[in-house]
Amino acid sequence: MWLFGYGSLIWKPGFAYVQKREVVLRGWRRRFYQGSPDHRGTPEAPGRVVTLLPAPQEERCVGVAYLLDAPARERILAALDHREKAGYVHHRSVVHCLQSSEAIEDVLFYIAPEDNPNFLGPAPLEDMARQILSCHGPSGPNLDYLLRLAESLQAMGAEDTHVFTLAQEVQRLQSTMEP
Ligand code: BEZ
Repeated sequence: MWLFGYGSLIWKPGFAYVQKREVVLRGWRRRFYQGSPDHRGTPEAPGRVVTLLPAPQEERCVGVAYLLDAPARERILAALDHREKAGYVHHRSVVHCLQSSEAIEDVLFYIAPEDNPNFLGPAPLEDMARQILSCHGPSGPNLDYLLRLAESLQAMGAEDTHVFTLAQEVQRLQSTMEP
């Protein structure tokens, strides 16, 4: 079974895998629209993490696909289901390898649909950046999550205006803050 990661799974899968491929998922867009009351924020001050929203077929989301070892699969998915219990559900689709365009069918990924209780949706860029700058949770600062995602996407040569613009905005805000 293949698992597609488009958020923290890109740089921190936290499980052993058999193969890893850089891939693109077509027809979905990555957005910092999901509230995180348990990892990058708290229930009182939820951070912002990514989910996927359906988009026209020309839109693409670059991420990483992991081939899971059959015996470990159930254990890995149970751990991820627990970790992502704050609103994420399973979805499946085809992805294509960045290098070869080879299709990998029926890849599993997690999405947080708009009707889940932690969905925050869009907000002005500066507001989202301020929220990410101020939030911390048990998994660390929300800022680290954003910057590590932006770095990982840059390293893969991926384009993602939403992520890169948000990362620039937090850096702009930081540069205006007192040391
Ligand atoms: C990920 O692909 O990194 C991911 C995003 C949201 C929930 C679970 C995993």
